[in-house]
Amino acid sequence: IRDDQESAAYYTANYIKKRILEFGPTSERPFVLGLPTGSSPIPVYKHLVQFYKNKELSFEHVITFNMDEYVGLPRDHPESYHTFMFSNFFKHIDIKPENINMLNGNCEELQNECQRYEDEIARVGGIELFLGGIGPDGHIAFNEPGSSMKSRTRVKTLAYETVLANARFFGGDVNKVPKLALTVGVATVTDAREVVIIIAGAHKAIALAKCIEEGVNHMWTVSAIQLHPSAMIVCDEDATLEL
Ligand code: GLP
Repeated sequence: IRDDQESAAYYTANYIKKRILEFGPTSERPFVLGLPTGSSPIPVYKHLVQFYKNKELSFEHVITFNMDEYVGLPRDHPESYHTFMFSNFFKHIDIKPENINMLNGNCEELQNECQRYEDEIARVGGIELFLGGIGPDGHIAFNEPGSSMKSRTRVKTLAYETVLANARFFGGDVNKVPKLALTVGVATVTDAREVVIIIAGAHKAIALAKCIEEGVNHMWTVSAIQLHPSAMIVCDEDATLEL
């Protein structure tokens, strides 16, 4: 628990830096990092970019997999997760373009795209550290309430609450928010060797309480991390309101 969102983000960015540096700069065994979008990780990306600029950290031997992407939103749409990741992170660091993995929500064959993603994660040896955020309903990636704890990458219909929460990015118009997304599954996240979740703000307080103080529950999918041998939540004071 950190005082505010900024210190939670700084702690998280430092932790990721430490893990990448400990892993060592080998191209044969790159560090595989799972990444989220959303407003919570933005300050984490800001600090990671700063570490790169200060020459404290390189992403040359880092492979990334993003958690999710909207279906049917053009790749260069200002609210696509593709655009988000490039403008907040990838274009500011030395990651190799071929090491960036994102789901393509404009594929003809969405199921094949999801399988391709799972195969690619397996091909590179699995994810070392998955960084995630949560929705106010406790979803991780786009694993909405009711998602199976064993779920893998798939097409998901967004919960109305998620559509509402994300309307602010689409001029407040719920009709403009895509209703479908491609998302890694709960099990895709928990298969990572380490999971780090960043949670900030009083609007996430109920979700945090459900996640850690109640049982493992597929209605609050982030609670799956209770079963993970190496999981950490970094949150601000506001998010602890219901604990
Ligand atoms: C979306 C993303 C999630 C993210 C959530 C919270 O639903 N698919 O991965 O955790 O937004 O976003 P924010 O950090 O903006 O509250």
